[in-house]
Amino acid sequence: MSVGPLLDIKDLYVHFHVFGGTLKVLDGVNFTVYSGEKVGLVGETGCGKTTTMKAVLRVLPMPPARIPGGEIYFKGRDILKMGAEELGRVRGEGISMVFQDPTAALNPVFTIGQQLGAVVRYSLAGGKRISRKEIHQRAVVALKEVALPDAERLLKNYPFQLSGGMRQRVCIAMAVAGSRELIVADEPGTSLDVSIQDQILRLLRRLVEEKNTSVILITHTLGVVREIADRVYVMYAGKMVEVATTEELFSRPLHPYTLGLMKAVPKLTGGGIADGIPGRIPDYLDPPGGCRFHPRCDQAMGVCSQEKPWFYRVSDDHEVACFLYREGGKEK
Ligand SMILES: Nc1ncnc2c1ncn2[C@@H]1O[C@H](COP(=O)(O)OP(=O)(O)O)[C@@H](O)[C@H]1O
Ligand code: SF4
Ligand SMILES: [Mg+2]
Repeated sequence: MSVGPLLDIKDLYVHFHVFGGTLKVLDGVNFTVYSGEKVGLVGETGCGKTTTMKAVLRVLPMPPARIPGGEIYFKGRDILKMGAEELGRVRGEGISMVFQDPTAALNPVFTIGQQLGAVVRYSLAGGKRISRKEIHQRAVVALKEVALPDAERLLKNYPFQLSGGMRQRVCIAMAVAGSRELIVADEPGTSLDVSIQDQILRLLRRLVEEKNTSVILITHTLGVVREIADRVYVMYAGKMVEVATTEELFSRPLHPYTLGLMKAVPKLTGGGIADGIPGRIPDYLDPPGGCRFHPRCDQAMGVCSQEKPWFYRVSDDHEVACFLYREGGKEK
């Protein structure tokens, strides 16, 4: 019996100490996922989506990364305070991540069978001994679930013998093998052909629906989340700027950044979002004060460069971090 959120990120800061100074990337991230929920996380490249999720799995390289503030609760326990054993359990049974680049996620020197077998052994057996035969059978089932034909032969292959689409499917198989509670899919298939990307997304949706797994789908395009997510967070330059149910967000987008993203949607086949919003993500060495979006915002007011906006609640299922939606907001 679990009450409260499955994942609850509170006021998370991540800095990177690099030659030349400190990149202040995450600037107080708040993000929540409830059990069984499918949540989208959208924002243009470089806004900190992957950094946020790497912090959750504690796979940020430290140094250069540092976490000067924040908490990340998974089922009520702060991941940032966990010891190695508990963290191992979270990674083995609780949360798994499907990375953007399937090539980098698979180890080139081990066969698919060895890698998938390791995941199966770890997450299914929960520390108990299971036979090689059983591991093999489970690995075959996992590959069939992601619609990969000829599983027996595939298990003997090395990653380089597979196409990009097959590698991405193997990564998904590894993420869903066992009873994971939360899958973080970081722009799955983005490095692949559009039609294959589409198949990958459909596959992911089917699996999370069948297994009732919670999922965080990261993407830089709004169109993708519309089909999968129950709720969507929009992120800009290290902070969440708007959150709403998917239906509400698409029918009533409010934050000026979200509006820009919406305008850019049809043009998002390969490029950036430059057509929707002039300008670019700020320099994290010296980010703008106040609302980080103010240098690009066509509705910026005096207060916007001075103070940071909080999340203002505009309805039960919709919050916006923008002074326009503070009570009496437009006067200032
Ligand atoms: N290992 C690192 N070292 C230094 N800076 C990094 C590192 N990883 C990420 N960053 C910084 O964090 C910013 C956000 O990156 P990222 O989280 O990958 O964005 P997104 O996933 O939204 O495209 C990057 O622009 C970069 O400046
Ligand atoms: S707070 Fe100000 S600068 Fe930021 S999005 Fe709202 S209006 Fe624009
Ligand atoms: Mg990323």
